[in-house]
Amino acid sequence: MAFKLVGLAGSYNRPSKTFALVNHIAAIAAERYGFETQVHDLTDVGPSLGLAQRQNDLDSNAARVLEDVVEADFLIVGSPTYKGSYPGLFKHFIDLIDPEQLRAKPILITATGGGDRHALMVEHQLRPLFGFFTAHTLPTAVYASDRDFSDYRVVSEALQQRIGFAVDELAAFFPQQALAAAE
Ligand SMILES: Cc1cc2nc3c(=O)[nH]c(=O)nc-3n(C[C@H](O)[C@H](O)[C@H](O)COP(=O)(O)O)c2cc1C
Repeated sequence: MAFKLVGLAGSYNRPSKTFALVNHIAAIAAERYGFETQVHDLTDVGPSLGLAQRQNDLDSNAARVLEDVVEADFLIVGSPTYKGSYPGLFKHFIDLIDPEQLRAKPILITATGGGDRHALMVEHQLRPLFGFFTAHTLPTAVYASDRDFSDYRVVSEALQQRIGFAVDELAAFFPQQALAAAE
């Protein structure tokens, strides 16, 4: 049985650079480790999120995304940078997750922003957020700015290299799959 990779892009935009980044990394990781893959964005979550105070308040679409996220064997989380941090509705989705639902889960944290000024958003905002959940954020976090994309596709070589480092780090969590890929 294949392990399950779930991507969550915290953007409502379509097209979205954050979704493109998460989807791009998911495809590379799935190819290497043989994951089953599902990538969601906040439009998949839909409008019930805004008024939900607990998981039971979510409609079936949103509940399905949340279930996918908490049942994932490996998560790729991506957030656009809004005012130097993650968007409020992205945080609200994460707020509905119980702490034990992400405990010890490997998570690759990623973000996009207009420029490089807020590149440490991944370290100063996303890493502590998932530290609260006692999740295993991978040592390499991935931040991409507008110039790393062309027509919503990842084009930067430096970014590709960084993505490669992060995907390599997954071998610690999926050693059998890493060995099989190396043969
Ligand atoms: C309300 C708002 C605030 C933003 N704040 C920042 C910011 O503080 N720093 C930054 O680099 N980009 C900022 N941006 C730009 C977005 O982070 C950037 O365009 C991002 O890649 C959009 O992701 P998406 O295409 O997935 O929606 C902001 C955009 C919006 C709409």
